[in-house]
Amino acid sequence: MITGFTQNFLWGAALSAYQAEGNNVNSDWWEWEKGAGKEKSGMASRHYEFYEEDFDLAKSLNHNAHRLSIEWSRIEPEEGKFIDKEIDHYIKVILALRARNIEPLVTLHHFTNPFWFSEAGGWLNKRSVSYFSRYCDLVIRALSKYVRYWITINEPTIYIAHAYVFGAWPPEVKSYLKARIVENNLFLAHVKAYRLIHDIYKGLNLPEPSVSISQYTQAYTPSSDGLKCRFIAYLADKRFNFGFLDKMMRYSAMDFVGINYYTRQKIGKDNSHPVRKNSLGWDIYPEGLYELLLKTGKYGLPVIITENGICTADDNLRWEYIQDHLRSVQLAMQRGINITGYLYWSLIDNFEWDKGFAPRFGLIDIDYNTYKRTVRESAVKFAHVCKTDFEG
Ligand code: FCB
Repeated sequence: MITGFTQNFLWGAALSAYQAEGNNVNSDWWEWEKGAGKEKSGMASRHYEFYEEDFDLAKSLNHNAHRLSIEWSRIEPEEGKFIDKEIDHYIKVILALRARNIEPLVTLHHFTNPFWFSEAGGWLNKRSVSYFSRYCDLVIRALSKYVRYWITINEPTIYIAHAYVFGAWPPEVKSYLKARIVENNLFLAHVKAYRLIHDIYKGLNLPEPSVSISQYTQAYTPSSDGLKCRFIAYLADKRFNFGFLDKMMRYSAMDFVGINYYTRQKIGKDNSHPVRKNSLGWDIYPEGLYELLLKTGKYGLPVIITENGICTADDNLRWEYIQDHLRSVQLAMQRGINITGYLYWSLIDNFEWDKGFAPRFGLIDIDYNTYKRTVRESAVKFAHVCKTDFEG
């Protein structure tokens, strides 16, 4: 039994625009896909058209929260040209959630950029922060009446690593120096957006919003007791899990801690017994979530798990994964951590970036020939957990 959550606990799932909507033709990812020799996002899960149907399913599964992102390249396909129709679309999406009593958590940047922005130098450009703020200003004003939770940037450390260190994602840069510049600009972009959101809400006399980022975290587990392994694990945890968040705290630019958690990374030569893995080969390690959550206690802020999930062909394993991770959440709450939400990644199957459509993370299966949605067994079991706690 998974109980003990508060009455107002946010239960639900997450998605991002580019991965689910389809047809995001003005994005840097779309352009990159043309020459990358990888599976293309194309129509993705056609969520742009079928969002009402998807939210009906979320509602039927007792979700009371949903995390979505706004696709910047739809709002501003050319520099300085803003498209009212697309802003109206996202207002409709958010009202569709509200009509179902589902609390929206809105992400402003989830890995993708408008193509024009990347052509202008992307996040390396000095003007990137002001370009992003101009887009944010417009979106925040348009949605402020309907939105309480904002996530400015999704997983800055993952974006920087893949796009500017490993060169695996657009713009395929491999430079530590450039990565540092991007990190700095993303940080400034967050702080500016954080302040903008608060100023706009104050100006409009709206109730206090709650703003953060979604921080990618993983457990760094030393494979031996050796000092070197333990020291590297300690440093990696400090820098990659908590570096950005610590800095946000120093700038007073965080209202809750947004945590994404999937797996662990072993430090040093691995001689241990193999553990279970998801279909992308990531270790399943729920204990790590517990340890990470305890460490977030230092901020003294509410914590929301903004992503946690598994891609697998084995739906029983999905349910085990959810249960085991919820137990970690429960234990951390018993140790005094104020966790206020859990959002499973993802509501529906979708486009997993450079890995294409093969990884199935969804609570809901998509048949990519017909786009038919089918609720998985694990989703029904998760729905019971959400419901039990709704009823207190
Ligand atoms: C996270 C991303 C999300 C999704 C999951 C599997 O790192 O934020 O978009 O791809 O991984």
